[in-house]
Amino acid sequence: MANRQQIYFALAFVAVAMVLPAGEANVRRDLQAQAGGGGVLSDPNLEASLKEMLGASERAKEKVPAVGNSQMVKECNRTYGAAIEHLNKALALLQGGIKTPQGFLELEAVVKEAMNDYEECDRVFAISTRPSPFIINDTYLKALGSKCNQMAETDAHQT
Ligand SMILES: *[C@@H]1O[C@H](CO)[C@@H](O)[C@H](O)[C@H]1NC(C)=O
Ligand SMILES: *[C@@H]1O[C@H](CO)[C@@H](O)[C@H](O)[C@H]1NC(C)=O
Repeated sequence: MANRQQIYFALAFVAVAMVLPAGEANVRRDLQAQAGGGGVLSDPNLEASLKEMLGASERAKEKVPAVGNSQMVKECNRTYGAAIEHLNKALALLQGGIKTPQGFLELEAVVKEAMNDYEECDRVFAISTRPSPFIINDTYLKALGSKCNQMAETDAHQT
């Protein structure tokens, strides 16, 4: 019962499978999922790292009531809120299924916004010349952001 469209689809899948390097099991699995329908890509490792980043941002924000009520703390409270929104957006993009390299670049831009939020928290303390109670959190969060964007960059090139 194979119609013309199904045959084209099968040929496209064979072509994609041939160009895949060995060892890219995750990507291969995702491409198979794509061939099965939906036409979307995901990356479970990137999703796990984004969730870790979201959780660590929430934990950092929960620290706010314990570290006083200065303008700097209020600013970090605000920037963590913004970072959480950015990470929820990045997760929604990924979970919605990314179809193009541009989709991964868009996700990277959103993660970069979250990284700028942590940077802004560090900056207000640096300007005030007070030590930041969030410095360890922000260092970890920015490193996680870089890791997520490296993964997204790899995905973009393999999509
Ligand atoms: C960040 O802050 C939370 C809350 O104080 C803490 O539990 C956590 O260990 C800190 N460090 C990192 C790297 O997330
Ligand atoms: C921190 O932000 C929350 C909203 O996300 C707000 O309810 C709370 O009052 C803020 N705390 C400070 C110290 O700014």
